[in-house]
This record gives sequence, C-alpha cells and structure tokens, in this order.
Amino acid sequence: MADTLTITDNRTGKQYEIPIQDGTIRAMDLRQIKVKPDEFGMMTYDPAFMNTAACKSRITFIDGDKGILLYRGYPIEQLAEHSDFLETSYLILFGELPTETQLAEWSRDITMHTMLHENIKKFLEGFRYDAHPMGMFLSAVGALSTFYPDAKNIFDAESRRLQMVRLIAKVPGIAAYVYRHNIGRPFVLPDNELSFSGNFLNMLFKMTELRYKPHPVLERALDVLFILHADHEQNCSTSVMRNIGSTHVDPYSALAGAAAALYGPLHGGANEAVLRMLNEIGSMQNIPAFIKRVKAGEERLMGFGHRVYKSYDPRAKIIKRMADLVFEVTGKNPLLEMALELERIALEDEYFVSRRLYPNVDFYSGLIYQAMGFPLDMFPVLFAIPRTAGWMAQWEEMLTDPEQKIARPRQIYTGSAPRDYAAREKRR
Ligand code: ACO
Repeated sequence: MADTLTITDNRTGKQYEIPIQDGTIRAMDLRQIKVKPDEFGMMTYDPAFMNTAACKSRITFIDGDKGILLYRGYPIEQLAEHSDFLETSYLILFGELPTETQLAEWSRDITMHTMLHENIKKFLEGFRYDAHPMGMFLSAVGALSTFYPDAKNIFDAESRRLQMVRLIAKVPGIAAYVYRHNIGRPFVLPDNELSFSGNFLNMLFKMTELRYKPHPVLERALDVLFILHADHEQNCSTSVMRNIGSTHVDPYSALAGAAAALYGPLHGGANEAVLRMLNEIGSMQNIPAFIKRVKAGEERLMGFGHRVYKSYDPRAKIIKRMADLVFEVTGKNPLLEMALELERIALEDEYFVSRRLYPNVDFYSGLIYQAMGFPLDMFPVLFAIPRTAGWMAQWEEMLTDPEQKIARPRQIYTGSAPRDYAAREKRR
C-alpha cells in the first residue's frame, strides 16, 4: 500500500488521503481541502522556506545533522583531497567525473574562453576607485548578457554548455580586474599555461616579472577553497538563480541576481563579517565580553550557525586544516588565535551547544584569504567564482526539469479590505 497522510478537516468533517513520496507531500494536493467549492483551497505558509522543497535535484546532498556533503554522490573530503576545481566543476555540471579525454577537452575549452571583451574592461573602468568589488563583479556578469545575445537560446543544450564554459572561464578575470581596479594596477592577461587557480593568482598579483609563478601551496589552497564552495544545494543565491532563470532569461542576468544574493552578510558576506568581527573584538581579553553580548542577543557570532548544518560544517574542518599549510607560507594570521579561542568557548558554551551552532565554511576561510593578501571586500567575489559552477548546474537542472515553471510563491494578504479612493483634501 502506498504511503499516505490522512488529514481530517474539522470544519467539514471530511477526510483526505494525501500521497507521501520521498517523505514529502505535494503542497498542491492540499488545494482540494476547502469548505465551499468556490474557495481557493488550503495553502501552506512557510516564510523563509524553512520546510519547503522547491525542486528535485541530483547535484548536491547535505545531511546537516551528520555533517555530510556530497557532490553527485562523492564526499567533499575525497574531492578536496584528490580532485581539482576544474574536474569538480565538470562533475557538478555533467554528473560524472570526467575521463582523461573529457577533462583535457573541458580544460582546453575553459582556457580558450578566459579573455574578456575590451568593452567589459572599459565598463569596469567607469566604477569609482573605491567601488565594492562585489558590486562591480555582479554588474560585469550582468553586462556579459549584452555581449552574448546567443545566450538567450536557453533550450539549446550546445548553447547552454557554451555559456557554462564562458562564465566559469571569465569570472576569475572579472574578479582579478575589479581587484586591480581598486588598487590602481593594470589588468593582467590570462596565462593559459597555468592551472585555473594559478592563472587567477597570476591575474591578481603579477607585477613586472615576465612570467608569474604561483606558490604551489597557495595555488592548491585556493583550488581546494574553490572545490569547497562550488555548490551547496538550495541555498539563498542558488534559489535566486533558479527563480530568475525560471523566467527564461539568459544565464548571465540570472547569475548577476544570484551574485547579488551572495553579497549579503548573512550569506556570502559572512567571511568578510567574521574578520570585521575579529578586528572589532581586537584582543583576547575582550572575548568574554563579546560572547556575553552574543548571548544577550546584541551581536551574532559571525561564521557560526547554519540553516542546514546542525553539526560541524564538513567544509570548515577541511579549511581549518588548510589554514595551517597556508600560514606556514604566509606567516600566521594574527587573528587566528582569537578565532580558535572563540571556537573553543562556543563549542563548550550552553548557548551555542543547545542551539547547535558550530563553525560554518566562512569561519576560517576569511583568515586564509586575508593571509594570502586579499582585502576583506574581495571575499564574496572569491566565493562567487567557484559557485558559478553550482549556479550553472542548478540553472540547467531547473530548465530541463519538466515539472518546473516560472517561480511564483503565494501570499497571505493581510492588508486593507476594499475601499474607495479618497480625494486628497479629504485625507487625514
Ligand atoms: N550567533 C549567535 N546566535 C546565533 C547565531 C550566531 N551566529 N546564529 C543563530 N543564532 C541563534 C539565534 O539567535 C536563534 O536563537 P533563539 O532561538 O534564542 O532566537 C537560534 O540561534 C536559531 O537561529 P536562526 O536565526 O533561527 O537560524 P537561521 O537558520 O535562520 O540562520 C544563519 C542561519 C543566518 C546562518 C545564522 O546562523 C547566522 O546569522 N549566522 C551568522 C552569519 C553566518 O555565518 N552566515 C554564513 C552562513 S554559511 C553561508 O552562507 C555560506
């Protein structure tokens, strides 16, 4: 017998059998529940989508209680150890690890598309010297839609693949450009002999040397950080990507919106917020007073807590280990000691333990980025580069899912009842 949920409507005494599939009932099955035939029918109310699945997905699996993260079934720990970002992005986008030939072709396609149109550079030059890199980044990604009108062919699989390649290839160049714009240095052309992350470091940090040689430890650390950030199922920015994409707009416009969501301090802005918080705390002796303010609800311990993870974020564990390797090269980030002490206290303190608040991916990533020489306001951009792969994979999955339509939530109207327009002189 199929699993069902029996609902009794006390208003009418009627019973309804609602099918259960994958531990879920379909919200539309509730619509038949009504008192009078001309009523709209029962809805669910779920602000912030705390308990609503909006899609079926084969890309990323998270078990927040156990701290498990899988891309296409592969544990994040194994990918962080054995894979690189380009291979992982292929896996996320196409569902399988590439063969040698597929990987060679994929890497060649990406390196062939790393150049930016000169007018994108001119467009970015229009920003003020102190413009936030994320504001510039998301504007440039949106502007790309005007350079590639063919991207509107969203139901052409070949065209979709081309836009995936273009976006993954070009976002590091945009990120590097916005960084160099802020510090007043000329744009560096991509070096296609380097790895994805090595070339990104080249475009960021090359000075007058003929050839930039990335430090292998920093190059690998950046690549691992990119692997860890590549996808994270239906988070806020990914839902935005799917929502905007559901209107059938081109992927550049949708991705600009997703990047805007990532800009917010509760999402991709959190690692920046962690460092600001550590700077504000200032020294070890101020930590107890800070924790007291957090517990009184006056502050948030940034980099702690997660909507899904109710145990240690598996990405945070990998990043914490990576931090040691990076600090051997760059020297210790002086804020690390404070971060470790905050974590030590929080993992023992009843307030954090009872709310199951653990370090998330952002708690340590900012310390690494800062040690590598990135200014704080570049952090969300560093998140957006790898997440581009996840956004594009989720976008394609949404477009090719026959159950998906334009996203359009319902509301419970709580405003005024119908009333007549009042002439201005009669208003009080
Ligand atoms: N510091 C202190 N208290 C916290 C924190 C925190 N970082 N996070 C949650 N809480 C408390 C809340 O005050 C609440 O307590 P209450 O029940 O007494 O009111 C309880 O824990 C539950 O918190 P919610 O806000 O309901 O949790 P939600 O799932 O809505 O929020 C979020 C998740 C936004 C990540 C939150 O934990 C937070 O603001 N963390 C800090 C920002 C951060 O690190 N964001 C990065 C997330 S990872 C990412 O986007 C890549």
